[in-house]
Amino acid sequence: MTAIGTAIGTAMGSAYDLSADAWRSGPAMLYARLAGALLDEAQLPLAGATVLDAGAGTGVAGEQAAARGAARVVAVDLATRILPGPPALAVGGDLQRLPFRDQAFDVAVAAFSLGHAPDPVQALAELRRVARGLAASAFPVGWTHPAKDVVESAVVRRGHRPPAWYVAFKDGAEARVGDADRLLGLATAAGYPSARTRRIEVDGGLTTPAAMVAWRLGMAHIAPFVATLPPEVITEIRAEAEAALVDAPPVVVPMLVLSAQ
Ligand SMILES: C[S@@+](CC[C@H](N)C(=O)[O-])C[C@H]1O[C@@H](n2cnc3c(N)ncnc32)[C@H](O)[C@@H]1O
Repeated sequence: MTAIGTAIGTAMGSAYDLSADAWRSGPAMLYARLAGALLDEAQLPLAGATVLDAGAGTGVAGEQAAARGAARVVAVDLATRILPGPPALAVGGDLQRLPFRDQAFDVAVAAFSLGHAPDPVQALAELRRVARGLAASAFPVGWTHPAKDVVESAVVRRGHRPPAWYVAFKDGAEARVGDADRLLGLATAAGYPSARTRRIEVDGGLTTPAAMVAWRLGMAHIAPFVATLPPEVITEIRAEAEAALVDAPPVVVPMLVLSAQ
């Protein structure tokens, strides 16, 4: 089953497209740090490499790969409006049916995107077909931070309900990739002869309540709803959530890292 053309895949893609601006001014900074940590931990050779940023979103993983010496980066995502603009090379496409020839890339980076594909093994098999090496990340199931509950509660009080695509993704593939042993099993099932997973912790760099709130308000299951609210209500949500997070602990993100070839 491909994500493109299914109701859930279409709804998810348009949610990411509608979140593009809020994602750039919120989550992107955190995800850039996580992508850098992923590449450092995976230790795949990037100098001079041709890299696929798979499920690229705003393209932070590709930027981190370029900063580590990649010669050429191509970004692919189901949502085409969130993708980086020129001079970045970016194309629309489904992780489960990638629009590239066999072994077109040296390295594929799948930063927090595997869990979005309804069939992560199919996505991994496609990544293996198009690239020699893979660095992929996922959030361990159950990870949380007070900013999540605080912002979710604030938007729920204004009428927000989690969209169906988000519920399906949280209960489905996201849960399947959110455990180091299971993630390794998926890579083996996809045919990678050599794979390893480990769990690391990354300082998210969100040092103020405002940055924490911007992170959560930019998430794709929330941002399209928030964009429909009057500006004064958004200001109210921000103020309320920031006040509740004054004493929040730092955002230290646990992350599963899969490297395979
Ligand atoms: C959590 S975001 C991560 C984005 C980016 N990799 C980062 O680290 O900032 C997941 C991304 O996967 C994309 N995505 C979801 N399902 C996909 C699929 N089947 N094929 C390609 N991209 C997909 C979404 O549109 C979204 O941009």
